Amino acid sequence: MSLTYEEARARLAACQQEQLLEFWSRLDAGSRQTLLEQIAALDLALLVKMKESLPGLMPASIPTNPMAEVTSVPPESLSNEDRAAARDLGEQALRRGEVGVLLVAGGQGTRLGFEGPKGTFALGPLSKASLFAIHARKILACRRTFGKPLPFYVMTSQANDAETRAFFDRNNFFGLPSSEVCFFAQGMYPALWPDGRIVLEAPDRLFQAPDGHGGVLAALQRTGMLDDMCRRGIKTLFYFQVDNPLVDIADPEFIGLHLRAKAQMSLKVCAKRDPEEGMGVVVRRGGEYAMVEYTELTREQKHARDAAGELKFKYGSVAIHVFDLEFLAQEARIGLPLHSAHKKVPFCDAQGCAQKPDRPNAYKFEKFIFDALPDARRVLVVDFDRTEEFSPVKNASGPDSPDTARADMMSKWARWMVANGIRVPRTPDGGLQHRIEIDPCYAVNAVQLGLRLPPGFVWAGDLDLRGEP
Ligand code: UD1
Repeated sequence: MSLTYEEARARLAACQQEQLLEFWSRLDAGSRQTLLEQIAALDLALLVKMKESLPGLMPASIPTNPMAEVTSVPPESLSNEDRAAARDLGEQALRRGEVGVLLVAGGQGTRLGFEGPKGTFALGPLSKASLFAIHARKILACRRTFGKPLPFYVMTSQANDAETRAFFDRNNFFGLPSSEVCFFAQGMYPALWPDGRIVLEAPDRLFQAPDGHGGVLAALQRTGMLDDMCRRGIKTLFYFQVDNPLVDIADPEFIGLHLRAKAQMSLKVCAKRDPEEGMGVVVRRGGEYAMVEYTELTREQKHARDAAGELKFKYGSVAIHVFDLEFLAQEARIGLPLHSAHKKVPFCDAQGCAQKPDRPNAYKFEKFIFDALPDARRVLVVDFDRTEEFSPVKNASGPDSPDTARADMMSKWARWMVANGIRVPRTPDGGLQHRIEIDPCYAVNAVQLGLRLPPGFVWAGDLDLRGEP
């Protein structure tokens, strides 16, 4: 849709945003056109919701104290028999080709300080395999095991979409059939000044930022990916984040537990490393399920203990979920709530010059996928051993960095060696003497590794075990 100047002016007057045309007289024809297109694309109903979520402007739509009258939801207690039966069920679903995999990779990776899509970050301790390669090879291994397609849906953002697609292309989709890898870009949201006006980043450009991983629902619908999933016969979706190389993608046990419980949404949680660890917690609030983000917990709440001395909010979500596809489609129709956050937003000043603020100056908006929780009739919370499945790459150094993730990956592979009776050469302080890497297409667990290693195998140097391309 293209607007004339008068139409744009009228549209903006209706929502008190005429300041977007402040620099009109100095813009050339091309810039004017760019600006008119952005004004035409503005979602006015959404703008109202954004304003409503700003503190002090209108009655808040999000409770100011999200922890009011909430109780934590403990993980399901499961016997080994439960788990084995569930695994069977999950494997059957995979064998019927009813499972799809959904990766959210539209984030900006600011904390890691890495230019480019986070998935292209070289993490393999020996191979320097990227996060995308590590994930894709697990999907390929699973596809080979169960003999059915395991379609891989990758959510990008406008900032990293082209680079992500080119990366997969350059790497021959890491062995996956390209027809089974589907990219789609999430939407973008403008930012607002505290008084509700939209922020201009340049005289002819609105500031825009990705709409959060909750944007995945609208994006799946808008890009036709939900229909694509239905066409392929997918009923269950395994969801994960790009930053965790240890994730057990399409884990049959987790999928089976979800199916057995007839849950709409299932979540993996683990005990937090310490009360301050940046993880969301699953709660019940007024009879509904919900996730409370770590940024919304006060220090007291994070440290609160029950009578037995256990942390009240002991378990954190690792953002590994399973969804019933019908539920996800329903949530895409309903839409998720908005969250606002006061952030540093680049803007252009009254002279039209670009400015980078050194403190929060405006509000950005995001949607979170876990806000689907309150609509779910049945939610399953499952805990697991974090050393096996969770070591995210969030920071450039220190905890949750590439170094810790590589060390955790190698420790896991070394445990597989031990499980197969192989001696692990160690340094005097107990560390690994040699580096190790196991391509998922060589083995995805200790049992598979045992079947692949030649008899009498001895680990005597750096070891990079590669499967078929
Ligand atoms: C996230 C979760 C937190 C969880 C933790 C586990 C949120 C708000 N918090 O925290 O509950 O305990 O992971 O590691 O999710 N992404 C997009 N588009 C966006 C924003 C993010 O695709 O617009 C993707 C990122 O690429 C990444 C994931 O979402 O894969 C997580 O985003 P991030 O902002 O890093 O979340 P955390 O604060 O680490």
